[in-house]
Amino acid sequence: MFEKASEDYMRWYFDENIWKTVSYRGIRTLKSVSDMWNYQEIFHAHNIGWVIETGSRHGGSGLFFADTLEAKNAEGKVISVDIDSASNYAPSHPRLEFLIGSSCSPVMVDTIKSMIPEHRTENIFMILDSDHTKQHVLSELNALVPLLKSGDYLIVEDSCVNGHPIYPEFGEGPWEAIKEYIELNPNQLLADKKRESKFGFTFAPDGFYIKL
Ligand SMILES: C[S@@+](CC[C@H](N)C(=O)[O-])C[C@H]1O[C@@H](n2cnc3c(N)ncnc32)[C@H](O)[C@@H]1O
Repeated sequence: MFEKASEDYMRWYFDENIWKTVSYRGIRTLKSVSDMWNYQEIFHAHNIGWVIETGSRHGGSGLFFADTLEAKNAEGKVISVDIDSASNYAPSHPRLEFLIGSSCSPVMVDTIKSMIPEHRTENIFMILDSDHTKQHVLSELNALVPLLKSGDYLIVEDSCVNGHPIYPEFGEGPWEAIKEYIELNPNQLLADKKRESKFGFTFAPDGFYIKL
């Protein structure tokens, strides 16, 4: 009964475009609000000190992550990458750095790598939220997961499309990409199902992982 209720809620949240009206400190963020709450809990539960976000868009999610790092006096900052900065309205923030370019280009991966100290003492929260086609998400996973160390956290956003359970006409997307990545790269990522299911629905089904 509850599974049905949470799926109905998710369909309403998506179909009525509630996700397009969410904002943080006045800046839009295209998210489920319960996912946002879950993410800040992860920051505290997993000693997160660094964030790598692909897909900045309006900047609201990056700003939320930067404030969360600031509030916990973390070691690092948010590195948020987008191919296009035209709709980014985030205010400047000492813990928020936007990079312009494609998230999985070799130059971008090297730049991100150079910004994070080799001997960091806190973990990375990596969230893939850019181009949601299967091919692009697979390319991101191949290019960016190697930056992670044991204990870091990975979110593959919007794995809910292509009928998981919404937007069935989308075509293969993040859900298919992470399935294939895990098949080809066993013993790299541990699914955090308890965290994923905490609030009943998520835009990232089968999208919460701890790096082994
Ligand atoms: C879903 S939006 C990001 C939403 C944002 N994280 C939030 O929560 O509000 C996707 C963004 O990915 C960007 N994007 C598309 N292809 C990209 C690529 N190859 N590399 C980096 N960003 C890309 C788009 O320009 C768009 O701004």
